[in-house]
Amino acid sequence: MPKIKDLRGNLSVIESCSDIPFEIKRTYLIYDVPGGQIRGGHAYRNQLEFIVSLSGSFDVHLDDGVNKEVFSMNRSYYGLLVSNMIWRSMQNFSTNALCLVLSSTFFDKNDYMKDYESFLEEVKAL
Ligand code: TYD
Repeated sequence: MPKIKDLRGNLSVIESCSDIPFEIKRTYLIYDVPGGQIRGGHAYRNQLEFIVSLSGSFDVHLDDGVNKEVFSMNRSYYGLLVSNMIWRSMQNFSTNALCLVLSSTFFDKNDYMKDYESFLEEVKAL
C-alpha cells in the first residue's frame, strides 16, 4: 500500500479497483485469536481477498494445489492479495493481532471449498 509519511504519523490507503483489483463488497476482522489457533483452512471458488495485519502479526499459508508459500504479515502498510481457488489458512497469531480482510464478494457460504481433496481435484480440472 502507499505509505504517506508524515511527522504527525503515517497514512496508508486502499482504494477499490485501483490499489486492489476489485471492488470491496465486504470487510471483516479477525482478532482475539487464542495462541495456537488456526483460521481459514479453505479456499473460495470466486472470492478475491486482500489481507492486512493492522496490528501484531500472523502468517498466511497459501497453496494453489501445486506450490505452497507462507507470508508473514507484520506491517500495517503491507497487504496480501489472495486469488480465488487458493487454499489458505492464517496461523501463528501474536497476542493482540488484528487482521483485516477486504473481500470482493458478499458473504456466500456456497463459495467455500472446505474439503482439501475436493479442492485439489477442482483445481486440477481448471
Ligand atoms: P469462516 O470464514 O469459516 O472463518 P475462518 O475461515 O477464518 O475460520 O467464518 C466463521 C463463521 O463466521 C462462519 O460461521 C461464517 C461466519 N461469517 C459470516 O457470517 N460472514 C462473513 O463475512 C464471514 C467471513 C464469516
